[in-house]
Order: sequence, then C-alpha cells, then structure tokens
Amino acid sequence: MRVVSGMRPTGKLHLGHYIGVLKNWKNLQESYDSFFFVADWHALSTKYDEGLDLKELSVELVKEWIACGVDPNKATLFIQSAVKEHAELYLVFNMITPVSWLERNPTYKDAMTQPEYKKKNNAGFLTYPVLQTADIVIYDADLVPIGEDQKPHLEIAREIVRHFHYIYKTEIFKEPQELLTEVARLPGLDGRKMSKSYNNAIYLDETSDEIWSKVRKAKTDPARIKKTDPGHPEVCTVFDYHKAFSNKEEVKEIESACKAGSIGCVECKKRCAANIENIVAPIRERKAKLKNDEILDIIKEGNKRAKSIASKKMEEVNRVIF
Ligand code: TRP
Ligand code: SF4
Repeated sequence: MRVVSGMRPTGKLHLGHYIGVLKNWKNLQESYDSFFFVADWHALSTKYDEGLDLKELSVELVKEWIACGVDPNKATLFIQSAVKEHAELYLVFNMITPVSWLERNPTYKDAMTQPEYKKKNNAGFLTYPVLQTADIVIYDADLVPIGEDQKPHLEIAREIVRHFHYIYKTEIFKEPQELLTEVARLPGLDGRKMSKSYNNAIYLDETSDEIWSKVRKAKTDPARIKKTDPGHPEVCTVFDYHKAFSNKEEVKEIESACKAGSIGCVECKKRCAANIENIVAPIRERKAKLKNDEILDIIKEGNKRAKSIASKKMEEVNRVIF
C-alpha cells in the first residue's frame, strides 16, 4: 500500500506540525511505501508575491522532517517542482475539470470572503485541488494522510479520477482515500489558532529557555487566582499541552490536582515545559547536526525515485489521450 502526502514550504515547523503531521508520517513509513514531498508549487498558489526563497525553505523543511524522525531510507522524500510530471498531469486534469467543482470547494469559498484573496483570485489558487490530485494519483496512492480541512480536496481528487475514467473509457488511476489524523488540533499558547503571526507557537528548534518563556506566559484558567482555587483544566491551554506531551499518568495527576486546587499554575507550567523540552531537545540536536549537502543528496535520490514512477504514469496517460 502506498501513502503520499505533501507539505508547503512556508516557514519553520512548530509543535503543531510535529503532533499533527510528523509523528504520523513517522509511523506510516514503517508500514507503507511512503512518499513525502515539499509542495513548493502549492506554496506559490497563495504566496507567489512574497519573494519566498523556496530553495532554502525546501531544504530546511526536509531537514526538519528528518530531524523529527522521518527516515529517508524508509520513505521517499522529494520536491514537487523537481518532478515536472506533476505539472503535466495538472494541465491534463485542468482540461477536464469543471470550474464549478472548484468554486464550491470550501477553502476557495472561504478565501473569497477575504478581501486580499478576492482581489487576487488567481487561477492557481482556484485550481489548487487539481494540482493536489495530480500529486496523489500520479503515484497510484492508496492513502493520503491529511487533516480534516483537506477532506474536500480528496473528494475533488476522486471526482477528477472518475471523470477522467469516464471520458477516456479506461481505468488507469486509483481513487485515493484519506487517512485522517486523529489528534486534536493543538491551540497556540494564547488559546487562539497556532500561527506565526500571533507569535503563539513553539518552534522545533527553540532552546529550553525560549520554551519556558513561552509556556510561562500561556493562558490558564482565569478562575484560578490563588493556588488553592479549584481549577478547570478543560478550559486551560496548558492542559492541552499536557495532553499532547505528558504521559497519561501525569495528565491524570495534573487534572485532579488542578481541580482540587493543590497545584499552582507555575509548577504545572514548569512540568509542561520540561516535557516539551524532552521532545524538542533531540529534534533540535539532530537538526543542528544535519548538513545541507547531506539533505541535498537525499532530495536528489528522492526526486529520482519519484520521477521514475511519475514518468511511467504520465506515459500511460499520454497513450490514452493521444
Ligand atoms: N494541500 C496540502 C496542505 O495544505 C498540501 C498538499 C499538496 C498535499 N499536495 C498534496 C497533501 C498531496 C497531501 C497530498 O496541507
Ligand atoms: Fe492550567 Fe495547570 Fe493552572 Fe490547572 S494548574 S489552570 S491545568 S496551568
């Protein structure tokens, strides 16, 4: 069984990526033929005018994946734009995809309510799911690990596949299924959505001092003024972090101590920061040791492997069309 997933290279990874995506990729590479790629063309769909250094961002991203435990000996790691067949298949799919399917995509509809996107309304953003479809089906992926927000894209992918099969009277693609990541979304330390612009995320290369200074300022249950005030861990962001990074016994212990008013928020945060540090420290250290040349070699190998599969598929597609 084959798994394919991509990530856009838009900046440093934080704990949300680790918990929500990379831990999952690490497990998947053990039992699936896994293809993980840097979706650099997809980054352009919204950020074409931001002057991103996509080459550097892509190398950094792959470095962080490997630092997190994604293993280039188990999974194929590559760069989308290095495998031009993605673009060729995207072109073909654009020919057969009704614009109405793309206009009813929730991500698109949502963006069109925001003035900055509405003003741009670039074709590449509208056709984002078409490129994503090409990314997936060019490898005959069985499963696509994604978050909830990407579900409509997978539905469009299946529709495009069925439409192609109907038009060309041949079944050359697999209909991909989503593999939903079950972990709850990790909020930012201020309780809002985790985002670079809110400065409420902990990045995978931060030092223990930086981690503590962020956790120290995290939002807690406002009902707790004195240490003995009974707390409500379910409304506390620090508790969300305990659930993600502390072991089960400690989570239980914190929960009852908070409710009983027998632990102070400062102590609770210290324990939380220590457990985060236990996860981040090895990632930070592995990242510091990885050399760019090493990563470039890994990417070169991955690109080659991906291209050999994608180009065969594309030959098949072209035989059907021409
Ligand atoms: N759209 C995905 C995201 O924003 C990234 C992506 C691009 C992707 N192509 C893909 C994910 C193919 C899975 C499969 O997260
Ligand atoms: Fe949150 Fe911990 Fe304080 Fe309870 S004790 S409110 S879980 S920080």
